[in-house]
Amino acid sequence: MEILGIDVGGSAIKGAPVNISVGELTAERHRIPMPSSSEPKVVADIVAEIVQHFAWQGPIGCAFPSVIKNGIVHTAANIDNSWVDVNGEKLLQDKTGFPTLLLNDADAAGIAEMKFGAGKDNLGTVIIHTFGTGIGSAIFVNGQLLANTEFGHMEIRCKDAEHRASAQNRIDEDLKWKTWAYRVNEFLERMESLFWPDLFIIGGGVSRKHERFLPLLQTRTKVVPAKMLNQAGIIGAAIAAGEHFQSSPIVKQ
Ligand code: BGC
Repeated sequence: MEILGIDVGGSAIKGAPVNISVGELTAERHRIPMPSSSEPKVVADIVAEIVQHFAWQGPIGCAFPSVIKNGIVHTAANIDNSWVDVNGEKLLQDKTGFPTLLLNDADAAGIAEMKFGAGKDNLGTVIIHTFGTGIGSAIFVNGQLLANTEFGHMEIRCKDAEHRASAQNRIDEDLKWKTWAYRVNEFLERMESLFWPDLFIIGGGVSRKHERFLPLLQTRTKVVPAKMLNQAGIIGAAIAAGEHFQSSPIVKQ
């Protein structure tokens, strides 16, 4: 069964149809850079453009960089503030004409990694962090997701963790890999002392360059790169939508 997965990020909106039975893209990912404004109307137009690009007709799963409850956007750290309190799910649904599920981007990446990737079959406590414009978090215990955790905003050295250790910080502050890895390590050690996880999975765009920083980390807990690298958000959003709309005749095959 195929579902269109979309990942709204700070720097771009990406999408592709996903075969949710195997967790793989069935067409090349389409990426549209985020314009200077990320207001609801602008983002909805881009999502519609991605739907048209694939001539898509069917359900959509959309990963979004905010706390999402019942389709409503509750926070806006790396997206325009006017998203707060908007029913993003309804907005995208009305714009595209297709049933849409909206969920937090790190939760989506985590769902993909737990089902088909680096966390597959792990029934312990698994924490996935995505490092991009911000830092996303998803926690799984016994395969169950605790949704909408926001540990990227934990305070470290009097700052939001994601204002010290996001992938964007490395670029903006022109940090050496070693310096950035030290900050990432500090963040992971804090998570480790609070949750005692069995595994950390590191995702986000920077996970493509994992050889540059994973060997520098010194956590007690095993740390592995996301298997689906920066496609995890797209794949996880599609998987979550597939499960959500399972009872709908549109996705029955
Ligand atoms: C947001 C999270 C999001 C993360 C990664 C943070 O700034 O608060 O909801 O998961 O960025 O995009």
